[in-house]
Amino acid sequence: MAKQRVLLTGGAGYIGSHTYLALVDAGHEVTILDSFANARQSVIDRLGRIIGTEVDVIEADVRDAHALGAAFAAGRFDAVVHFAALKAVSESVEKPLDYFDVNIGGLTTLLRVMDAHDCRRLVFSSSATVYGVPDETPTPETAEFRGMNPYGQTKIMGEQILNWLSASDPRWAIGILRYFNPAGAHGSAMIGEDPRDIPNNLMPFISKVAKGELPKISVFGDDYDTPDGTGVRDYIHVEDLARGHVLSLARLFESGEGHLVNLGTGRGYSVLEVIAAYKRASNRDLAYEIAPRRPGDVPIYVAAAGKAADVLGFRTEKTLDEMCASSWAWISGPHSGGTD
Ligand code: UD1
Repeated sequence: MAKQRVLLTGGAGYIGSHTYLALVDAGHEVTILDSFANARQSVIDRLGRIIGTEVDVIEADVRDAHALGAAFAAGRFDAVVHFAALKAVSESVEKPLDYFDVNIGGLTTLLRVMDAHDCRRLVFSSSATVYGVPDETPTPETAEFRGMNPYGQTKIMGEQILNWLSASDPRWAIGILRYFNPAGAHGSAMIGEDPRDIPNNLMPFISKVAKGELPKISVFGDDYDTPDGTGVRDYIHVEDLARGHVLSLARLFESGEGHLVNLGTGRGYSVLEVIAAYKRASNRDLAYEIAPRRPGDVPIYVAAAGKAADVLGFRTEKTLDEMCASSWAWISGPHSGGTD
């Protein structure tokens, strides 16, 4: 496809940095905009080492209309891939205004600046969390919205804002991607998921236990209505997920129209299956204990993956074992766990 000038907000984060590499690999000219509120500066150097040239980066908050305006004036972007947002569920319950401010205020600020600069192609990070506790598994895109917490509500509202915007002006073409559970790391082992604090999510938590930085995994509930009683999720390799953004962008330019798709594999794994896979990949003994259910958790999230295949030609390629092996290569290697 034609080369595009792309602004990648949140491009120093976990999914953003992998998507940066996928976009550059596809021949696009990419500028990262990140506030580094929840990402490390050293990611930029490491991205530069992987691609072999300097990374174009702007340090700015997505709520800063002035900084965004300056970025657009200089960059003349054809499209935006928008990751910059907050994503921790329990934090969102404690600090709802932060979530509405960054996730909604940031989105509307960005949209206004895009509109003012005649840039109306956007790929938006949404989440399976918009389904709440879904009635149907695998869950299709037609399932209804169910907000379970402020974070999930911001993803629902973000999608609704984008739908109303597209309805108001056909020049907009917006790809909404609902991610299931991203996992794994880049094949170079130079970038990956690297939370500063104790991780909330399963895979980074397991990786820290494997590395010996945390003593044991708590399995949140073993009495769910699932084959082994533990929660089931559709884990998707972050490199597959990143490729989904490249396909989404291509589709926006080919069709001039928006789309809404799940990005998952269509296959679920339980917490115990993930622990077993990580054990094989890392060759470490992984201690775990059964703990009470985590409030607000959903028993099963698995994507109906057919629409992404039909609309984008998207199919995942990497297995759970590859997610665990790449995660372990990253977390046990020299590039993770920096202090910057
Ligand atoms: C969580 C959020 C989701 C958000 C996503 C990305 C909740 C309820 N959902 O997804 O809205 O989009 O993170 O940030 O918080 N588990 C353990 N022990 C752990 C951690 C997790 O057993 O230490 C289990 C969970 O109960 C679940 C599975 O592992 O069954 C996956 O959990 P997690 O990685 O946190 O992802 P989600 O809950 O699916």
